[in-house]
Amino acid sequence: MLNKESIKKIEKELKKYPRDRRASAVMAALVIAQDEKGWLDKGVIKFVADYLEMPPVAVWEVASFYNMYNLAKPGKYKITICTNLPCLLSGGGNAAKYLKESLAIDFNETTGDGLFTLKEGECMGACGDAPVCLLNDKSMLSFMGPEKIDKLLTDLRENS
Ligand code: FES
Repeated sequence: MLNKESIKKIEKELKKYPRDRRASAVMAALVIAQDEKGWLDKGVIKFVADYLEMPPVAVWEVASFYNMYNLAKPGKYKITICTNLPCLLSGGGNAAKYLKESLAIDFNETTGDGLFTLKEGECMGACGDAPVCLLNDKSMLSFMGPEKIDKLLTDLRENS
C-alpha cells in the first residue's frame, strides 16, 4: 500500500524503539503515510496497523485524536489556524473569522474548487507570533492578520 521510500522511512523510525515496541512509531508512520497519500483512508490505516502489528482501531484512535492527520481528502492547501487562548488574545479569533469569510467555508470544510481546507488547530508553540497558521501541516505562518491572509490566499491561488 505504501511505496518503498515510505517503508524505508518507517523502518528508520522503528529503529528508534525496542523490537517489541513497534507501536511507538505509530505517529511517525502516520505522518509518513499521509505525506505519500495526502490523507489517511481506511486502507492506509489498516496497512499501518498491520505493519506495526497493532489493532487497526488503535491506529484509528491516534489518527482521529490529532488534527494534523487528514481523515478525509483535503484541498490542495490545508490551512490550520491556532485558536488556543494565547492566540485568541492576540487576534487569532478575528483571523479565523476572516479566513472563514474569505474562503466562504467553516472549519473542516473545503472550498468548492478543491483548493483550500480550513482547520482549527491547537497551540503550535509560537504564541508570540499570533495569529499563527500552519500551511499543509509543514510551514508555519506568523502574524496572520487580514493583509497577510489576503496575500497568502492570492499567492496560493496564483500558484495553482
Ligand atoms: Fe497559538 Fe500557542 S496559542 S501558537
